[in-house]
Amino acid sequence: MHELPPGCRRIALSEEALQSRIAELGAEISAHHAGHAVRLVTVLRGGLFFLADLCRHIDVDVALDFMAVAPYVQGAGGVVRVTKDLDDSVAGARVILVEDVVDTGLTVNYVLNFLRSHNPESVEVCALLDKHARRIAPVPVTYTGFKMSDRFLVGYGLDLAGRYRNLPYIAELEEHVALG
Ligand code: PRP
Repeated sequence: MHELPPGCRRIALSEEALQSRIAELGAEISAHHAGHAVRLVTVLRGGLFFLADLCRHIDVDVALDFMAVAPYVQGAGGVVRVTKDLDDSVAGARVILVEDVVDTGLTVNYVLNFLRSHNPESVEVCALLDKHARRIAPVPVTYTGFKMSDRFLVGYGLDLAGRYRNLPYIAELEEHVALG
């Protein structure tokens, strides 16, 4: 049993639960894209951990690329902008956008439009966590790890002001910590 870090109230998804579901997602993606190469794209930084584990369960050719986005500080609506572009062209590629969490959907919605504008063969979304209750922009999630309620979660890429990303499990924060 892990000792929870201060501020965490319980483990929401254990390391074993995460790894077992990620193996299933990898198998699903491999079956769906059998005989074809896929390009996994993730948005820095939270998705890195999921991407690293997921790609090792995919048995078709895999290439990786990374982008970064930042929300505009001013202006409403959660508009985002690209701060790091992809290194390789996605034209003609079977792209899978790998995200740790889809929350409002604004990030994925923006990134999907960005990717589609570069003429890939296809674009799918693979999200480890889907917080559907908070959705503002409807986005198609092809592969979902876990549907989660609206709790503040940390670990396995999810952070609180940069901390907790390296936990091998996902934990729920104490409410007073989450609210600052
Ligand atoms: C998280 C996550 C998604 C986004 C989802 O990133 O990795 O990119 O939020 O939220 P949304 O559906 O409401 O747009 P975050 O902005 O926390 O940055 P990080 O990956 O560097 O932690």
